[in-house]
Amino acid sequence: MIVATSLRKAFGKLRAVDDITFSVSPGECFGILGPNGAGKTTTIRMLFGFTPKSAGRLQLFGLDIDQHLRQVKARIGVCPQENNLDPDLSVRQNLEMYARYFDIPPPLARRRADQLLSFIALEHRQNARIGELSGGMLRRLVLARALINEPELLILDEPTTGLDPQSRHQLWNRVEALKARGLTVLLTTHYMDEAARLCDRLMIVDQGKILVEGTPLQLIHDHVGAEIIEVASPNADLRAFVDRSGTPYEDLGHRLIIYASGGAEYYHTLSREFCQSGCMLRPATLEDVFLRLTGRELRE
Ligand SMILES: Nc1ncnc2c1ncn2[C@@H]1O[C@H](COP(=O)(O)OP(=O)(O)OP(=O)(O)O)[C@@H](O)[C@H]1O
Ligand SMILES: [Mg+2]
Repeated sequence: MIVATSLRKAFGKLRAVDDITFSVSPGECFGILGPNGAGKTTTIRMLFGFTPKSAGRLQLFGLDIDQHLRQVKARIGVCPQENNLDPDLSVRQNLEMYARYFDIPPPLARRRADQLLSFIALEHRQNARIGELSGGMLRRLVLARALINEPELLILDEPTTGLDPQSRHQLWNRVEALKARGLTVLLTTHYMDEAARLCDRLMIVDQGKILVEGTPLQLIHDHVGAEIIEVASPNADLRAFVDRSGTPYEDLGHRLIIYASGGAEYYHTLSREFCQSGCMLRPATLEDVFLRLTGRELRE
C-alpha cells in the first residue's frame, strides 16, 4: 500500500524527515510513534501530497505519487491532527460538502453520510453546528469525513489526543471494525496502549529518523525484555546490589527502572533483602521501549 524510500522533508536547514524508508502492506495497521517534533505529521502530510517531499520516492497503491497524485488522493482518507471541520456547516453538511472534493454525486454522498452518521453514532446530532459538539464527537466526525470517499488507506494523525477514556475506546472500536473490513490504516499516537492495541507493526521515529521498527511484542522483547522492576527511593545498598548484578537499569534519582527480563527470582531477592516496600514487578510495555529509546528529556 505504501512504499517510502529515502523520504525526506527539509524546512531550511532542519530535516524534519531525514531519509526514512518504510513500507505498509494491505490490511495492516501501521503506527508511527515518536516524541513531539519527531516528524510524524510531516511524514503523513507527504503521503497525501499536502506537503511536497524534498527528496526520496513515494509509492502508494503501486503508483508513484509524483505522477499520480490525483488518483492516489482519491483512494486515501485522512484524519488530520487538528479538527479542521467547517464551523459554518452542520455535522451532516460537513460530510456532504467534503464528498464534493471527490466528485461524489449528491445522492450518493447523502447515502454515505447516512451510513457514516450511524457508524459514528451521531445521527441524533446531524443538524448540530460544529461548535456545539464535544471533543469526542468532533473526532468521530473527522473520522467519518475521512471515510466519505470509501478509501483503501486510512491515515489517522493522533486520532484520540485529548479524549476521555470512553471516547478513546469508542474510537478504537471503530478503527478495529474498519480493520476487520480489510482497510489499511496508518496511525500516529502518543498513547502507547493505543499503539499496542491497534498496530500490527510500528516504527518509533525521533528527529526525523527511524529508531526501530517491528511488532509491538517484538519491540518490547528486543529492547526492554518481558518484565520491569521499579524501585521507589532506592537506598545505597540496593543500588550496589543492582550494579553488581550487571542487570541493565536506568537511574532516575528517586526511582530505579530495572530491565530484569524473566526476573521473578531477582525481584524476590531485591524485595526481601533491600526494599520491603516501594518495589514493584510489572510486565514491560511499549511505553518502556519508547522512553528507553527516545530518552526522558523534553524535546521542544
Ligand atoms: N511548515 C513548517 N515550517 C518549518 N518547520 C516545520 C513546519 N512543519 C513542521 N516543522 C518542524 O518539523 C519538525 C517536525 O514536525 P512535525 O509536526 O512533523 O512533528 P510531529 O512528530 O508530528 O510532532 P507532534 O507529536 O508534536 O505532533 C518540528 O521541528 C517542526 O517544528
Ligand atoms: Mg504531529
